[in-house]
Amino acid sequence: MVSRVIPVDPFDLVIFGGTGDLARRKILPGLFRRFQSGQMPQGCRVIGAARTELDEGGYRKFVSEALTEFVPEGKRDEETVRGFLDTLFYVSVDAKGEGGWKDLAGLMREGVIRAFYFSVAPALFGDIAERLHEHGITNRESRIVVEKPFGRDLESARALNAVLARHFDETQIYRIDHYLGKETVQNLMAVRFANILFEPLWNAQYIDHVQITVAETVGVGGRGSYYDKSGAMRDMVQNHMMQLLCLIAMEPPYKFDPDAVRDEKLKVIRALDAVPLDNIVRGQYVAGQDNPGYLEDVGNPASRTESYIAMKVQVSNWRWKGTPFYLRTGKRLRARTSEICVTFKEPPHSIFEQEEGWRENVLVIRLQPNEGMNLKVMIKEPGPGGMRLTEVPLDMSFADALGENGTDIPDAYERLIMDVIRGNQTLFMRGDEVEAAWAWTDPIIAAWEARGERPRPYDPGTSGPEDALMLLHRDGRRWREIRE
Ligand code: BG6
Repeated sequence: MVSRVIPVDPFDLVIFGGTGDLARRKILPGLFRRFQSGQMPQGCRVIGAARTELDEGGYRKFVSEALTEFVPEGKRDEETVRGFLDTLFYVSVDAKGEGGWKDLAGLMREGVIRAFYFSVAPALFGDIAERLHEHGITNRESRIVVEKPFGRDLESARALNAVLARHFDETQIYRIDHYLGKETVQNLMAVRFANILFEPLWNAQYIDHVQITVAETVGVGGRGSYYDKSGAMRDMVQNHMMQLLCLIAMEPPYKFDPDAVRDEKLKVIRALDAVPLDNIVRGQYVAGQDNPGYLEDVGNPASRTESYIAMKVQVSNWRWKGTPFYLRTGKRLRARTSEICVTFKEPPHSIFEQEEGWRENVLVIRLQPNEGMNLKVMIKEPGPGGMRLTEVPLDMSFADALGENGTDIPDAYERLIMDVIRGNQTLFMRGDEVEAAWAWTDPIIAAWEARGERPRPYDPGTSGPEDALMLLHRDGRRWREIRE
C-alpha cells in the first residue's frame, strides 16, 4: 500500500515558545518529518519566537540538536536536515512587552497561511493574542494553536476562552488534545462508522461495559511542580480520557465534519452523570527499588494529589443507560499501554451444554503500543470429543495489516499541525466542549477536596491500588490485565 502525501499550501508557522521543551521534543521533529515526507512544499517557513536572544544561526543549531536527539538516526539524512533547517527563522519577542513584535511583523509574508502556535504558559495567551492584534500580524485567515492545560477548572477555562475570543473567532482557534491526533484514536471513528458490523450492537442492549485504560510506566519526576497542581484527573481524564470516551459513546455524526463531530462529542459530555466518590479510586505511587515515590518526585511530602485514578462513569442517554464505562489511568504502572476494551453481553440463550470456559465477546482496540484490534470470539475446539467451545482472538495488528504504512504511523503532532495548516478543526476541541468537560470534572474534584482523603498508596510496577480492583469486583466484573 502506498501512502499518499498531499502537500499543504505555503505557510508561515510562528512557534511562541520556540525554544521550549514541547517545541524541541514534538513540534519541530514533527515538522521535520512532514518536510521529509514532501508535505511541506517550497515556501513554507517555521519561525521560532521566544524570549531567548538568538540569531537565525543559533536557532538552526538548536533545532539541529533537537532533531539529533528526537528523530532516530535511521530516519534522517543530512541533506533533508539541511533543507529543513533552511525553512527556519527566529525572532526574539517579549510576550509582555514591546520587544521584537515589529521584527515579527516585518518577517510575515502576504499571500501565505499564517499560523501561530502558543506553546507557552496559558497565562501568556492573552498577552500574545493582544500583541499579534496590535501589530497587525494576524488577519481573518490566521489560525492559532493552543496547548493543554486549557484552564484548571471551568472558571479559568472560560476566562481563557474569553481572552482568545477577543481577537479570534472560534473557527480560528485550534485547541490541541494530542490524543485526537493518534492514528488509532481516529480509527475508533473509522471502526464504528465505516463498518456496518459494530454499530447495530453498539448500545446498552448488547454491550455489558467498556474499559478505557491509559497506563504509563513513567513517574512525574521533572514535571513535579506542574503535575502536583493537576493530578491524573486534570492531566489525563478531563481531556484525553474524556475524548476517548466521547469517540466510543457518541452518536454517528451526520458527516465527518468539524462541527458535526464536535456537536456529537459535546452531547456525550453533557450526558455524563455526576460521579459519586464511592465510584472513584485515587492512588499515589510509593517508592520502588530504583525510583523515588510520588511525594519525593514532586518535592511535597504532604501532597494529596493523585497519580492514579480509576472511576466508574455513566452516560445517561437512551443508548448507554445501564452500561458503565470504567476509566483508569496512572503513572508508574506495570506497562505502558492505552486501550479500549468493549465487553459484549452473553447471548440471550445458550444451546450448548458447556458452561465452563465460556467467555463474552470482547473487542479490544489498542491505541499504543502495537496499534491494532482484537476481537475475541467463541469457536468449537477443533478435533473429536463433542461440541467443546473455546475462545480465539481475531487479531489485527495495524503494522501487519498495513505493511510499511502501519509501522510508519505519523506522530500525533505531525498530523495535527498539518490539519491546522489545512484549516481542518475536526480533531481539535471546541471551546464549549472544554468547558463542558470542566463542568463535569469540577464537582468531582471539589467533593474529594472537601473530604480531604489521602490517595491510596500503590507500589510501582503494579496495576495500581487494590481498591481499584474492587470497583469492578463489586459489579461482578474485572479489569483487563495491564500489559504491553
Ligand atoms: C500528556 C500528559 O498530556 O499526555 C502527560 O500531560 C502524559 O502526563 C502524556 O504522560 C501521555 O501521552 P502519550 O502520548 O505518551 O500517551
